[in-house]
Amino acid sequence: MFTVLVIHGPNLNLLGEREPEQYGRRTLAELNRELEEEAAKLGVQLEILQSNHEGVLIDFIHAQRRNAAGILINPGALTHYSYALRDAIAGVNLPAVEVHLSDIHQRESFRRISVIREVCLAQISGRGFDSYLQGLHLLVDYIRKNG
Ligand code: DQA
Repeated sequence: MFTVLVIHGPNLNLLGEREPEQYGRRTLAELNRELEEEAAKLGVQLEILQSNHEGVLIDFIHAQRRNAAGILINPGALTHYSYALRDAIAGVNLPAVEVHLSDIHQRESFRRISVIREVCLAQISGRGFDSYLQGLHLLVDYIRKNG
């Protein structure tokens, strides 16, 4: 059995109360529960972290780099400008999938740019919790074929 890192970036701890018209009314705990259920069906283990701090996310990726087979990440607003997070993902050489609850291509223009996308296998955006669930499937399939 292998481990997938699930990383939630800044402000995602407020899911459920934060801009519900964009992100829905369900909480991060509910999202993590759905991910754990899906992971159990797929036969993979998850290591989940949410942080509002860029450096904490980077330290987690470094610390887990030999333990994990892939990364599922919603970088939140760091998506749009964090070269440090991008370099961390590129640097550990693990397959990664970028996910977003809202459709970042249909919102403000600054959200259309992702500096993370190029170091990921795919970007899945605009499907709410399903973005994460589909991202998990894609990543697990990729690891099984290539790992
Ligand atoms: C987000 C989209 C980002 O632009 C925003 O800063 C977030 C959440 C999403 O999941 O839709 O924090 O990543």
